[in-house]
Amino acid sequence: MLNSCVKEPMNNIPVECSVRKRAGKTRVNASRTTKVLVCASTFRALHRSATRVADFTTNRMRWGFRGVTGRLQCQAADNAAPRAEPLLRSSATHPIRPAPRFGHHSREGTILKDLNRYLTVMFSCVTLFAASTSHADQVVVYSARIEQLIKPMFDAFSKETGTTVKFITDKEGALLARLKAEGKNTPADVLITADAGNLWEAAREGLLRPVESKTLESNVPAHLRDPGNQWFGLSVRARTIIYNTQKVKPSDLSTYEALADPKWKGRLCLRTSKKVYNQSLVAMMIAEHGESTAEKIVKGWVANLATDPLSDDTRAMEFVAAGKCDVTIANTYYYGRLMEKNPALPLGIFWPNQESNGVHVNISGGGVTRYAHNAPAAIRLLEFLSSEKAQNLFADVNMEYPVNPRVKPDPAVAAWGTFKQNTINVNKAGELQAEAVKLMDRAGYR
Ligand SMILES: [Fe+2]
Repeated sequence: MLNSCVKEPMNNIPVECSVRKRAGKTRVNASRTTKVLVCASTFRALHRSATRVADFTTNRMRWGFRGVTGRLQCQAADNAAPRAEPLLRSSATHPIRPAPRFGHHSREGTILKDLNRYLTVMFSCVTLFAASTSHADQVVVYSARIEQLIKPMFDAFSKETGTTVKFITDKEGALLARLKAEGKNTPADVLITADAGNLWEAAREGLLRPVESKTLESNVPAHLRDPGNQWFGLSVRARTIIYNTQKVKPSDLSTYEALADPKWKGRLCLRTSKKVYNQSLVAMMIAEHGESTAEKIVKGWVANLATDPLSDDTRAMEFVAAGKCDVTIANTYYYGRLMEKNPALPLGIFWPNQESNGVHVNISGGGVTRYAHNAPAAIRLLEFLSSEKAQNLFADVNMEYPVNPRVKPDPAVAAWGTFKQNTINVNKAGELQAEAVKLMDRAGYR
């Protein structure tokens, strides 16, 4: 129990937990001060995940923290059985009882008292999962796609099939590590994550299993799924050129490769090479042009940079809009979100490489875990997510493109125009990712 851990901390590492509200969300922080004592290994997990959703297991103790809109749900169990269920959220059929809101008690000084009260909620969660021993009518999902982007689809699936979807959300790296650590004891049936590179990695690590499904083969084009059928795209994300409409004419633009031309010197902004998106783009360029040509192109980009690489796509577009640079490369859903907030920004979308291989696309997708307890339901869930019924829900909610070619994109997305997409299998993004990272490093792209 948490209390016994408080009395007898394993390493005397004190932890203070605090909750703060930002943009309507409750975030849970943990830091090394003196109030609540928990097991050292737990502390490390908490600290690493500070300000993010955290959910983890240790041999001695389990303590999951989840910051969700205005609520906090926790669970703890000393000497947790190795096969213990993680803290999961649930689709419609068996909702977890919501914890009380923090309201005006969110200040640090009162939060520890609040936490004690929430222990009641923790144990009710434990009881709930201990009670749900049958896997026949439930499927468990580990998702790197955030709750707002997946829960509506899970609810629709539950409504249609009667199968409950339980899920956790976290960063893809954390989910992969967790699947690996849990091995055969994982409760997860399905892994959902963004970027083919991550899915490729999951398959390479032996965390997924091949799936034979005519429905998935029919709904998901061949270049957007694993040739070994271990993962399937569920939405398409186009990574394209965004330009300042006051400084650049569409006729000035042509391809990703042409952004290496000296005419763009001091005019290009790029997102950091540390993010998988540009690693995947470069991996695809290696697949198309070979390593040495791809390296020349990336060196050309670096020579044209107006600023150091930026933290994310939105910031890069904001720099373009502010005239600090003229063009960047970004995923279109970030463009959609930014323009929705500020339609007056002088930003335009350009579809490159239309005379050659087409626009670089990636996917958000999923696969059935190697040790799934309910593989039939896991397959049914993936089939449902790729179906005409669910595709708009899946893609539109994040301004992405449906993977199923029989489904039209959201009108707001369709308004950006049509484009030819690159049909090299997105698997290459994973296969060549390590090579791409090394290449970008050699080219001085940070
Ligand atoms: Fe993204």
